[in-house]
Amino acid sequence: MSEPTWRDRLRALPVFPDIFPDFDTDAAPPDPLVLLTRWLAEAVDAGVSQPHAMSVATASADGIPSLRTLILKDVTADGLWFATLSSSPKGRELAGNPRAALLLYWREQGRQVRVTGAVSEGGRDLASADFLARHPDARAGAIAGRQSEPLGSLDELESALAEARHRVESVPDDWSAYVVRPDTIEFWQAMRNRDQVRLLYARNGDEWERTLLWP
Ligand SMILES: Cc1cc2nc3c(=O)[nH]c(=O)nc-3n(C[C@H](O)[C@H](O)[C@H](O)COP(=O)(O)O)c2cc1C
Repeated sequence: MSEPTWRDRLRALPVFPDIFPDFDTDAAPPDPLVLLTRWLAEAVDAGVSQPHAMSVATASADGIPSLRTLILKDVTADGLWFATLSSSPKGRELAGNPRAALLLYWREQGRQVRVTGAVSEGGRDLASADFLARHPDARAGAIAGRQSEPLGSLDELESALAEARHRVESVPDDWSAYVVRPDTIEFWQAMRNRDQVRLLYARNGDEWERTLLWP
């Protein structure tokens, strides 16, 4: 008998769990950041794995997209925060095209939250506080810098990290906290019987407009 194809194997995999949290769109709050923090709390309380792991899409000035996972560092009235090196590819893209799309996916709950918005840098104080709260090994990695540049060998990395471990109290100039000020936030909830409920918040001046979306 021939091996099943990848198409068959993938099709046989389950996508969603059987039980979902509730999403009553009629009771959704006017401010999407309130709903975001509510869903985040529910993800944390439900033991969702890495609920703060967030996909962050940027694009070069000429429109070539790129995507990576970053840790969601905070949610404030200003928006959603992440931290990275401004000298990295994503940092350079953001300097030329300060917009991003974010995705939080809480698979155990069949939920995703999609965000688009303008990106700005928080001040040095925020960057420093973020940096100094990181694990010393993570700080050494950032001090060694050169994120995403070609690496000659693992020995080269190890000696750069060993040297950087002596300086983990000094904040690199290019460690930056960034905030995405949402223009749109969409809340997506899988439902029983393969249904989906989608609620889009779109910023209109100081107000948020809410719209249900077709699945
Ligand atoms: C779960 C997870 C969390 C991550 N968190 C961060 C982060 O907070 N900051 C960061 O710079 N890179 C983080 N990374 C590494 C990035 O995904 C990426 O490899 C790196 O930032 C280089 O991206 P760039 O080449 O697009 O600039 C994380 C990776 C994973 C898998």
